[in-house]
Amino acid sequence: MTMSGYVLLSILFILLVMLVIMTYYLRAVDKQQVLEEADDIPATIKVRNVVTAQTFVYTAIVLTSVCMLVSLYLIVKGTIWEGHLMEWMNIVIRLMHITFGIAWIGASFYFVFLENALNRTKDVREELAGNLWAVHGGGFYYLEKYKVAPKTIPKHLHWFKYEAYFTWLSGFCLLFVVYYFNAKALLIDKNVLDISPLAGISIGVGSFVVAWILYDLICKTSFVRKGIWFALTGFIICIGFAYFYCHVFSARAAYMHFGAMLGSIMVANVFFVIIPAQKAMVKAATENQPLDPKLGKNAGLRSLHNNYFTLPVLFVMISNHFPSTFGFEYPWVVLAIISLGAAGVKHYLNLKEKGQLSVWVLPVSIIILLSAAYISAPQKPGECKSVVSFAEVNAIIQQRCISCHSASPTDDFYTAPPNGITYDTPDNIVKLKDKIMQRVVLTKSMPQNNKTNMTEKERELIRCWIDQGASLK
Ligand code: HEC
Repeated sequence: MTMSGYVLLSILFILLVMLVIMTYYLRAVDKQQVLEEADDIPATIKVRNVVTAQTFVYTAIVLTSVCMLVSLYLIVKGTIWEGHLMEWMNIVIRLMHITFGIAWIGASFYFVFLENALNRTKDVREELAGNLWAVHGGGFYYLEKYKVAPKTIPKHLHWFKYEAYFTWLSGFCLLFVVYYFNAKALLIDKNVLDISPLAGISIGVGSFVVAWILYDLICKTSFVRKGIWFALTGFIICIGFAYFYCHVFSARAAYMHFGAMLGSIMVANVFFVIIPAQKAMVKAATENQPLDPKLGKNAGLRSLHNNYFTLPVLFVMISNHFPSTFGFEYPWVVLAIISLGAAGVKHYLNLKEKGQLSVWVLPVSIIILLSAAYISAPQKPGECKSVVSFAEVNAIIQQRCISCHSASPTDDFYTAPPNGITYDTPDNIVKLKDKIMQRVVLTKSMPQNNKTNMTEKERELIRCWIDQGASLK
């Protein structure tokens, strides 16, 4: 282990000790609060104590985990366990990201549904905006929405914010694990733009900040209330970002950055606008001050924007599994079309929940989505002039693929065959012919970033060989 490894391990040890102490402290504060329930210490101070202690503990947990991971990484760096550690980090963080994401988007869908489905007319008390009866799991639920705020703010008020923050944090970590640690192999495609990993990472992270500032600035003007014009402008700016990413990063990384950019705007909306507005509303209600109606309206609008972002973001998050999307010659076009179509579907769902039947929004959205499938469909192949032998194909694969896809790869980055795919034996090549067709001929997403400089002629030969039955002769 290197010197820095030891230093990190020591820091880790100190943090662990701190964590234990803080946990005890937190328990003490908790107990104290229960014991002194009746005394005259203002409740806010006690609550603040607990919250500060909690923040400490959470910070310590996060720091400890980060430290533990970094030390572990330094210990296994350069050994056969490095890839294994990365894979497990990927699994764990991805699982967290998906789980937090479901909780966040699920709550967001639920509240938009609630808002749209409220009974606003029958038996609604004066102070209420509406109510809703529901049955779920093992019981019946009755929910009420207030027009403004209840007369007294209840002590236990549930806030929806950590789902959003943790989705973003885990997503950001995942971006590092998948794309930034492997920037040379996965983020950067020399055939797109030859930049250094550091430049790539800075552009990636910087673009999220720029996107938020731009969006937030536009939202602060009166243009935000211009409905369709605002949406159209927003969409054009999104296309701009998609185009930019696809001309800086590898197509796959470009897609992920587009999704991460929208996701960052969504979380920033929660963090910088929605939660502060809610806090101000609670404060005003607690102090019996008049409520500024602009706050709620503004937060509601940002929340609505988030609602439209969800489906495009979800599409991007799964697009990495579908080379026919990012593998298209103009990947940003597919990205733009699917974002538009997905937002259209969301618009239809929103209208439907409000009971407004729209006859054209859904069909148009579906046509838009299908047009992405249409334009990215493979071209009709040309005639194959002669019979291609296995020997020819094998020679190409040995030259262009085996550096990565072999039991013992020689590639400077991949030390194990990616996805376990190897082409060491003729049988393997024949068995995997459909995948080869998909990745090498139809989407041209292999060799990865065309690192081994495969030519169009070679792709054509492989296609003919597969079309002719992929025989071993
Ligand atoms: C620079 C390394 C590299 C080279 C060279 C390379 N690949 Fe890959 N390949 C990868 C990586 C990494 C993955 C996994 C990520 C992905 O699916 O894009 C992969 C995945 C694949 C998959 C998908 C496997 C699955 O489980 O779906 C196929 C098929 C494939 N490669 C075929 C090829 C063929 C054929 C060639 C040669 C023409 C080739 N690759 C050259 C790195 C490489």
